[in-house]
Amino acid sequence: MYDYLLHQEINSALLKFRIGKEEDDLSFYSRLIANGSTIQSLYHELYKQHPRAGTQFNLLIDTLAAAHKIRKPALKKTDVAKAEKGHWFLSNEITGMSLYVDQFCGSLSNLGDKLSYFDKLGVNFLHLMPLFESPAGESDGGYAVSDFRKINDRFGTLEDLIALQQKMNTAGMYLMTDFVMNHTSRLQEWAIKAKEGDPHYQEYFYMYDDRTMPDIFEQTMPDIFPETAPGSFTYVPECDKWVMTVFHNYQWDLNFSNPAVFVEMLNIILFYANLGMDVLRIDAPAFIWKEPGTTCQNLPKAHTLLRLLKQCVQVVSPGMALLGEAIVAPKEIMYYFGTGNYTAKECDFAYNATQMALQWDALATGDTRVMLAAQHELLKKPYGSSWITYTRCHDDIGLGYDDYMIQQASFNPYQHRKFLKDFYSGNTPGSTATGALFSVNPKTQDARISGTLASLCGLEKAISNNDEAAINTAINRIILMQACSFFIGGLPMLFYGDEVGYTNDYSYLSNPAKNYDNRWMHRPVIDWNKNNNIEMEGSSEQRIFKATQQLISLRKRLSMVADLSNLTWLTPYNIHVAGFLRQKEDQRLFCFFNFKNEVAFVDWQAVKEKGNPPIVLYDHWNQQEHLVGRDREFLIIEPYSFSLLEAK
Ligand code: GLC
Repeated sequence: MYDYLLHQEINSALLKFRIGKEEDDLSFYSRLIANGSTIQSLYHELYKQHPRAGTQFNLLIDTLAAAHKIRKPALKKTDVAKAEKGHWFLSNEITGMSLYVDQFCGSLSNLGDKLSYFDKLGVNFLHLMPLFESPAGESDGGYAVSDFRKINDRFGTLEDLIALQQKMNTAGMYLMTDFVMNHTSRLQEWAIKAKEGDPHYQEYFYMYDDRTMPDIFEQTMPDIFPETAPGSFTYVPECDKWVMTVFHNYQWDLNFSNPAVFVEMLNIILFYANLGMDVLRIDAPAFIWKEPGTTCQNLPKAHTLLRLLKQCVQVVSPGMALLGEAIVAPKEIMYYFGTGNYTAKECDFAYNATQMALQWDALATGDTRVMLAAQHELLKKPYGSSWITYTRCHDDIGLGYDDYMIQQASFNPYQHRKFLKDFYSGNTPGSTATGALFSVNPKTQDARISGTLASLCGLEKAISNNDEAAINTAINRIILMQACSFFIGGLPMLFYGDEVGYTNDYSYLSNPAKNYDNRWMHRPVIDWNKNNNIEMEGSSEQRIFKATQQLISLRKRLSMVADLSNLTWLTPYNIHVAGFLRQKEDQRLFCFFNFKNEVAFVDWQAVKEKGNPPIVLYDHWNQQEHLVGRDREFLIIEPYSFSLLEAK
């Protein structure tokens, strides 16, 4: 609807920033007009009652215009190219890797020299773990940012990042970094000013004179790191106040109910957009809105805030997609893709943390029933949005799926989770895994799991026992886990080191800035001598690397694997096997993954029930053709192996 005052504000911003009649200015103008009233109404939902709502709204519009004005022509061109492709990020041709620049190769400039390594593997998307300044002794792996615009000296400079982005862009690669939205380091400028007593900046945080509000909040807020950082508030002696610190005590939660905080953070997002990020990972979005009497997670206004951000980003940098790092229950995660009029208009991506954990579940039990019981929720993901699929990342593995899913598979939820935690922390006789429990909650006995892909799959134990057969089995497990996450739909994100089977790295134990957090065991320091073993015939590095490379290249060739809401689960004739169909027009790929350490027999009936029964299937993984058998004849899958069968 036409709104005179809104359009006056837009016009004055256009004049102020001399946005004229160039083609890209006109596109910006169209986008601003198209999204303007939605931006305004989302903003009002959050801030209508705030005394400074009006002035901050004007500042918001100015922020959009200013960011457009300085966006480089090359980036504006990329925006257009991506828009012409439609949902560019749903493509089956993108495969990512997440890495710590320092642990991987030292610095941003060295990373520029490693592009041929990614090219060899087939990775064309990099997630660089937090790059911006973060105090060495209290950084939470970079997730406690003390300067949102300055690259951590350890990695290099902003110029190095820009040079890397340009090099990657020329090589056809995509780039993602983190936007740590929920909190700042206690050593960040606003936090320092708040500590010094500046009331303007104290309003940027949840700061209280006494324990009244903290006590009320803490009644309903769960602990995130119960062992190392219990409680959600920290006393600040410098100003004699309590500040909200949901994560560690050095991470101060930003108060987004203050519109000035929103505008400041919008400015930072657009700064990242103008550095050329293709995707921005919004860290911990489930936590960005707080209300007493709630868990302060997944609140409706957190979604309003994300929608508002999405609308603003679309105006200035329409080519940049947003990934919401919400690691929440299967039902909750869907809301991050948007609902109602905002369906597929909130976060473009979310992590499929449920599927990731369910693969670990199936690997431990050899049974895929819990995985199946969750799929009805995961299939609700709307067209136009996508998953990040993965087996491991820098964080722990949480078993956050619902109890009823476990019950449906005839297990007792408490016993089942206990079994999984014991199995992966190596506390069960016969367990092949080497991992550890992370963040054990003494009150609830809840815990998550740390460990690398290879160690959790049994490679660490197999190597130390010098057991060739166990090494083979572990490698098969690793490849099975990767394959399932590569073909289930979404952008596969490898975690660095997993492509060559790094086992746990225990050097963190001697570093006081890290030894309280066992997630560091699965964040290895890369030894390039080890990685060079990919050239050594028969080495485990080579076997894992080659298989990963082959999976990536297969995925790029099979366009029905693009995430087009085209996943159908097959009837589970064999509970040890996860079977699904990926389909695009008349191209069909039947995928079967055997999670059991025994040969599996799958009734051919499974492939005959979805559309025209195929007669011949070509297995792209095993490079073998199959004539589809009669009912009660079987497709045979080796232990911890899989088949990727295209209907001919
Ligand atoms: C996210 C990060 C995690 C970090 C937390 C707090 O969940 O992935 O590593 O500890 O946010 O910033």
